[in-house]
Amino acid sequence: MKIAVLPGDGIGPEVTAEAVAVLEALALPGLTLFTGDVGGAAYHRHGHPLPEETLAMAREADAILFGAVGDPTCDALERHLRPEQAILGLRKHLGLFANLRPAKVFAGLEHLSPLRADIAAGLDMLIVRELTGDVYFGAKGQRTTDAGEREGWDAMSYSESEVRRIAHVAFRAAAAAGLPLTSVDKANVLETSQLWRDVVLEVAADYPQVALDHMYVDNAAMQTVSHPERFGVLLTGNLFGDILSDLASAAVGSIGLLPSASLGERQTGHGTFGLYEPIHGSAPDIAGQGKANPMATILSAAMMLRHSFGLEDQAARIEGAVARALADGILGGDLGGSHGTAAIGAGVRERL
Ligand code: NAD
Ligand code: IPM
Ligand code: MN
Repeated sequence: MKIAVLPGDGIGPEVTAEAVAVLEALALPGLTLFTGDVGGAAYHRHGHPLPEETLAMAREADAILFGAVGDPTCDALERHLRPEQAILGLRKHLGLFANLRPAKVFAGLEHLSPLRADIAAGLDMLIVRELTGDVYFGAKGQRTTDAGEREGWDAMSYSESEVRRIAHVAFRAAAAAGLPLTSVDKANVLETSQLWRDVVLEVAADYPQVALDHMYVDNAAMQTVSHPERFGVLLTGNLFGDILSDLASAAVGSIGLLPSASLGERQTGHGTFGLYEPIHGSAPDIAGQGKANPMATILSAAMMLRHSFGLEDQAARIEGAVARALADGILGGDLGGSHGTAAIGAGVRERL
């Protein structure tokens, strides 16, 4: 089990260290960790946010544990040199088109949500976000109009094969869990979304057992915080899934709680090759202060054990330890508590 650990920038290294400590505490036989540079840290050291040697290490691994990238000192660089290109490049180069972002209020932890407890209790959804297409990877640029005005532009598109393969991932997840599937789009305005909806309907024919509905993204945002119990699996494009998953994390209680798995088609010996990361960023406002909540990254390591290594029991053990730590009041500042990164990590390991 070869894991490439890519800590990145800001709080990335702080939260990644705690997730690595949890993996080490499990003492799994055959686990080997390699560490590589990504993001602003890699730019400052090697002149590129995703150096060749890091990409090679990622390709060699069975799974990647990723922290976060983003460095305010790099925001004025040409776009291809900015830290965010590291994560976008890894997703694209490694064919990681399926991003799973589970958002769930643990039973008994409704008080961590800013929503009314009776609403929060119904929040248990899996966002299946397409990750290598959409307006993220289309042509883009800035130009001057005939009137001499500056104009920025980004092309949004999805091909039917891109929609079909992510739709299959979402339908399979919904079928396996016996949950309804909601496909999110903006088909009332966007042609990209009309094609999305048409293809999702075609794929639905293969899954008669899954209850499917379609919802516009603005309504989906509203329902996420007013009627989250309506959702089981949410299928979204890249941009809508990015926004809805931050919203769902806030509804759970904190962005410091939401993990993710990014999967493609490549199989390893025991599962699917994948990249695992918290959904949050490098949080420059709290970086270096030992305040970041590492739970999202620890839960991402659990997803790694489940999806890439077939270790369901060990994954559940980590998730149980996190839930118990929260129930016991091991809360970071993001959840109104006073525990720091190291204390939260230690609290989880004690409960493994
Ligand atoms: P962010 O997720 O980094 O932070 C948003 C807010 O949430 C901040 O107030 C931050 O302090 C808080 N927060 C985030 N994670 C936390 C944690 N684990 N514990 C406690 N509080 C936490 O989003 P942002 O501020 O919009 O972006 C900062 C940088 O991160 C940008 O450069 C952005 O591009 C990048 N980013 C990277 C990723 C990634 O690497 N996958 C994801 C999102 C943003
Ligand atoms: C995320 C992040 C990334 C995204 C950025 C950093 C490119 O916000 O993983 O949610 O938009 O996908
Ligand atoms: Mn995001």
